[in-house]
Amino acid sequence: MDKIRIIGGKELRGNVEISGAKNAALPAMAATLLTPENVWLENLPYVRDIMTTRALLESMGAHVETLENETMMFKAAGIGELEAPYELVKTMRASVLVLGPMLARFKKARVSLPGGCAIGARPINLHLQGLEKMGAKCDVSHGYVEASTAGLHGAYIQFDTVTVTGTENLMMAAVLAGGETMLDNAACEPEVENLADMLRAMGARIEGDGTRTIRIRGVKKLKGCRHRIIPDRIEAGTFAIAAAITRGDIEIANCNPKHLASVLSQLSLVGVEISIGETGFRVRGHADISSKNVTTYPYPAFPTDMQAQYMALMTRGDGTSIITETIFENRFMHALELIRMGADITVEGRQAIVHGGRPLTGANVQASDLRASASLVLAGLAAEGETIIDRVYHLDRGYVRIEEKLAGLGAEIERIS
Ligand code: EPU
Repeated sequence: MDKIRIIGGKELRGNVEISGAKNAALPAMAATLLTPENVWLENLPYVRDIMTTRALLESMGAHVETLENETMMFKAAGIGELEAPYELVKTMRASVLVLGPMLARFKKARVSLPGGCAIGARPINLHLQGLEKMGAKCDVSHGYVEASTAGLHGAYIQFDTVTVTGTENLMMAAVLAGGETMLDNAACEPEVENLADMLRAMGARIEGDGTRTIRIRGVKKLKGCRHRIIPDRIEAGTFAIAAAITRGDIEIANCNPKHLASVLSQLSLVGVEISIGETGFRVRGHADISSKNVTTYPYPAFPTDMQAQYMALMTRGDGTSIITETIFENRFMHALELIRMGADITVEGRQAIVHGGRPLTGANVQASDLRASASLVLAGLAAEGETIIDRVYHLDRGYVRIEEKLAGLGAEIERIS
């Protein structure tokens, strides 16, 4: 099993190119099931979750080709298997995103029910309730959701909780349903907007994406398209913290700074220097970092997917900060590993209290999920001496060649087996 070894203490400098967003690519790949025509997806990040989704689509009978420049071509003409099996879903819960498109186009789907995961229970009840309102029957038996419909119809659906993949799943179901669907209290993450752009390019009629109310008028069929995946705002934010935590100076290129407004404003608040351009931004870290509280909320507020990385930064703060996690009930596993590196953190329910200023020292640590792994890499970059991070397969699910990108900025980092 691969590990990552870091010798901390280097100030990172230079330019880094941001890859496509994993969380925009996954629903886009699922959406290729909505048409028998060719779909080209550009700027795909070649991370493990993308390969898992490719394997899932191929297992169902889709044809997928890898082309140049991070582009793949998908053709879902010969779908024979309407099932997302346990073996794939257990490694990536976003597999559940095929449920909406399969029901919409084939009126039937069998998808393994995702179990709990390291960061929380993560049920899919809101996906299923929404599909039922649209005329599907969803039964859970033997660990699978068995869904079928005589034909989906439009519905008014109000989400109790903002759910990103729930919004995406129902949007993909509604584009081929009869009549109008209204999704209220919908997620307005940029990844949802990116999916809506793709669906419109396929001929769907969608309005209001990027707001809390999305209206979809079903059409009879969808056509192929060419679609570009947006840059990964979480990867960009992770590199921003890499600059801040190492007192470095990094130009973060090929991203959309508007998607990072809450993160960049929080970083400015703690004393990091940010200069924003059209398609990138520059981050300069300084010796003094102020400790400031943060609370995670759905977009456009501070994202849960940046909470672990921000916690690593707060270990360098000049006082005490309180980090409140409102999205997932168990997303503080990294705190225990950061403590092993010398941090002073107390977790009380949904809050982590970080007393800054204790020097971080390298240690052997274990990654527990994707963003937790990123926070350990960041802590390792700032720590004195050697850090070895185990279970980096979590990191490989969502970051493209992270060790190469960091080494390009001057980090002493390598992958070891
Ligand atoms: N929830 C329910 N019922 C549902 C759906 C969600 O109670 O049917 C709850 C969840 O348990 C959670 C909250 O609603 O407490 C929000 O979860 P959401 O459904 O928005 O999460 P998700 O769609 O499963 C996506 C990202 C996550 C990211 C969250 C929140 C993808 C593939 N995943 O997950 O990304 O943390 O939204 O922004 O888009 C990551 O990239 O590391 C990651 C975990």
